[in-house]
Amino acid sequence: MKKEKLIIFDTTLRDGEQSPGASMQADEKMRIAKMLEKMNVDIIEAGFPAASPGDFKAVESIAKTIKDSTICGLSRALDKDIDRVGEAIKNANSGRIHTFIATSDIHMEKKLNMNPEQVTEQAIKAVKRARKWTDNVEFSAEDAGRTRVEFLIQIIEKAIDAGATTINIPDTVGYNLPHQFGDLIKTLINEVPNSDKAIFSVHCHNDLGLAVANSLSAVINGARQVECTINGLGERAGNAALEEIVMSVRTRSDIFNCDTNIDSSFIVPASKLVAGITGFAVQPNKSIVGANAFAHEAGIHQDGVLKSRETYEIMQAQDVGWDKNKLVLGKHSGRNAFKKRLSEIGVDLKSDTELNEAFARFKNLADKKHEIFDEDLQAIISDQVSDEFDECIKLVSLKVCCETGEIPKSVVVLNIDGVEQKGQSSGGGAVDATFQAIKKITRSDATLQLYSVNSITSGTDSQGEVTTRLQLGNRIVNGQGADTDIVIASAKSYINALNKIHLKDLKKHPQI
Ligand code: KIV
Ligand code: ZN
Repeated sequence: MKKEKLIIFDTTLRDGEQSPGASMQADEKMRIAKMLEKMNVDIIEAGFPAASPGDFKAVESIAKTIKDSTICGLSRALDKDIDRVGEAIKNANSGRIHTFIATSDIHMEKKLNMNPEQVTEQAIKAVKRARKWTDNVEFSAEDAGRTRVEFLIQIIEKAIDAGATTINIPDTVGYNLPHQFGDLIKTLINEVPNSDKAIFSVHCHNDLGLAVANSLSAVINGARQVECTINGLGERAGNAALEEIVMSVRTRSDIFNCDTNIDSSFIVPASKLVAGITGFAVQPNKSIVGANAFAHEAGIHQDGVLKSRETYEIMQAQDVGWDKNKLVLGKHSGRNAFKKRLSEIGVDLKSDTELNEAFARFKNLADKKHEIFDEDLQAIISDQVSDEFDECIKLVSLKVCCETGEIPKSVVVLNIDGVEQKGQSSGGGAVDATFQAIKKITRSDATLQLYSVNSITSGTDSQGEVTTRLQLGNRIVNGQGADTDIVIASAKSYINALNKIHLKDLKKHPQI
C-alpha cells in the first residue's frame, strides 16, 4: 500500500541557532542549507529575518540559492516582521512564511498582555498579510501544548479561514507526554471544522526528553509535518532530532502509514557538519549519529552480530551514512580533486583567491596528517571563514613550554586591528597558560563557560576541534578552532569566541 507523505521541516538554522552560543555565520548557514537540500528536506526554516540584518541576508541568499527545498522564514504576527520574511523569500523557487502568536493563558496574560479575542484578531491579520506575499503560509499557536483546547480549536479554524495552509502545534516548553500530545492532535483534526484544508504539523521541545516521542505520537494521530533539527539542536534542551524521527518512521514502517523523502545516507555527514559548525558535539551514545550508535562492545553482542547482523542491529550503519566518512584526499591530491570534493560536500568557494587560500590550508594540513577526510575539509573551510570574518583579533604566533615538574608557560602574539601585541603567562597547563596570555593582551571581561576538545577523525594525528564558550553580560557565544596541535586549536577557538562576543549585531529573539 502506498504510504502517505510525512513532510520534514528542518529548523536547525532557526530554532537550532537559538541554542545559546550556536549562532552561525551566513556562509556556515549556506553550507548547512545545501546539505539539507541534498538530503531532500522538504522545508528549510532558514531564519528569522526581522531579528537582524544578518539574519535577513542569510535567509535571502539561501532562498536565492536553494532550488529543491522550500525556504521558510519565521515572523511574529506583526506586519513589519511578515514583510521582512516576504522580502527575504521573494526570489525563492518555493517560499513559505511562518507566523506565530502565543495562545496559552499564561503567555497571553503574562507575556503579551492580550486577551484571546485580541490574539485571534492579530493571528487572522497576520495570516492575511502573509498571504499577500505567498500562498504557502504556516500559522503556529505558540505554547499550544499548554493552551485550552476549546480556544485552540477556535483560533485554528479562523487561521485556516484566513488562508493558513499549515497549522503548527508547538509544545514550546516540552511539557506534554506522548499519549496526551497524540490525543491533542487527534482532537484538533477531528474538531476543527475546516481541518481538511490544512496540514497539521508539530514542533516539540525536549525539556523532558520527550520531543521525538511526542512528535511520533502526533504522527500516529494524523500530523503530516514534523519540525525538527539535526542532532536535536535547539532552544534549551533542543527540538526533536531529525535523524531520530526519520529513522523511527522508516525502521517501524509496520506502525507508520507514512514515510519521508529523506535520503538517510546524508544523516551522519549532516550531523558532523552541524556539530563542527556550532561546536555542539554529539554525545557518543546519541542514537543514530553518536560514535557508539553502531559499536558493539560486549562479546556476546559482537558474536551475535558476526553470525547475523539483525541479532543486535535494527538499522544498518551505511543507511545513515556512516560509510560516507571515507578517505577522500591525501598529500598528493591536486587542486582540481580538492575543488571537486569541496563541491561534493556542498562548499562552493566564490573566487579563485578563496580556493587558493583553502588549497594552501589543505596542503599544510596534508603535510602533518596523511589522510584527509570530509570532516577535515569542513574544518579547513570553517577556519578560513572565521579568519575572513574575524577582522579584529588574529593569532600571529604561539609558543608553549611544558616540562614535567615545571610550570607551563605560553607566549602569544596577536594582531589586533592591524597592530601586533605580545603577551605571556604561566598556567596550570599549556592551554590555561595560553588563555591567560590571550586574556592579558585583549583585556576582555568575557568569562569562560565551556571548553571542550574533540578529535575530528580517528588516530593521534587527527585534528583536534575545540569549542570555547564565553559569556559577556547576557550574551553567550561559542568559538571554534581546529588544528593537529590542540593548544593551537584551543587558542584559535578562544580568539574566534572573543571576536564574536565583541560584535555589535545583536539579534532579537523570535519568542519575545
Ligand atoms: O517553540 C516554539 O513555539 C517555536 C515557534 C516559533 C514555532 O519555536
Ligand atoms: Zn521552538
